[in-house]
Amino acid sequence: MKILSISEQPSWCLPFLNAGKGPGGFYRETLPVQTGLVDRLPEGLDALIATADLQGRETFESACGGPLLLLGEVLPQILVDEILPSLGIEAQRAGVVLAGDLYTVPALDKRGGSGDVTPVWQAFGREFQWVTGVAGNHDTFGNLDRPASRMGKNIHYLDGEEVELSGLRIAGISGIVGNPRRRQRKTDQQFVASLEKCIHDDLDILVMHDGPGIPEQGLKGSALIRMTVDALPPKLIIRGHAHWDTARATLPGGTDVLNVDGRVVILQANGKK
Ligand SMILES: [Fe+2]
Repeated sequence: MKILSISEQPSWCLPFLNAGKGPGGFYRETLPVQTGLVDRLPEGLDALIATADLQGRETFESACGGPLLLLGEVLPQILVDEILPSLGIEAQRAGVVLAGDLYTVPALDKRGGSGDVTPVWQAFGREFQWVTGVAGNHDTFGNLDRPASRMGKNIHYLDGEEVELSGLRIAGISGIVGNPRRRQRKTDQQFVASLEKCIHDDLDILVMHDGPGIPEQGLKGSALIRMTVDALPPKLIIRGHAHWDTARATLPGGTDVLNVDGRVVILQANGKK
């Protein structure tokens, strides 16, 4: 599966509330939804949907007076009701990749809060054929760093593991490089060891929250991950954590990097609509 193109302009912009600094500091923002083409998708799959860094909550209009749900809790239904039909995509024929950081505090008064993202994973799991991905540095599952048990029969959390879904071999590494005494961090050595364990010739997608930087193109990311994947290039990395103006870049070794920080990308096979 090779990415051929990603639309530069979003096809949809979904309103949500972003946390501000202090009480009442929240503000309205939009989540861009972009479409893209890959050379082929496996039999049984109409689309692959990837997203990360959904650090916001639904709008007051959408909550209808109830508590504000996480953006990622309401996004699956919005995709199913308002977006996928116009692309000819059936939700049960779509797989979802979540690349982490899906939480925002309920009062929207603090940026970068950490909390339980299990309801987000489960909301995607209810609508789509399968869901896989990794934790971001702000994600917990209950109060744990990784789910204590399976979040659903079609939900596959990855941290140093690989899963085969619709014939796609997908591996994932949760968290970021940092001080392992802090939540969702791995030392340099641990992260490199996990990359070396996960990457092999038959791997289709490597999902990470952090990912390689491409400083020569002004794109932020980890120098350590870059050095490792330059030596051991996977075919496709799906990542979040650092915002890029562009959704896609290619490393010199040929690795395609899809950055879905604060955006949704819907990939369909070329020639299918
Ligand atoms: Fe992050």
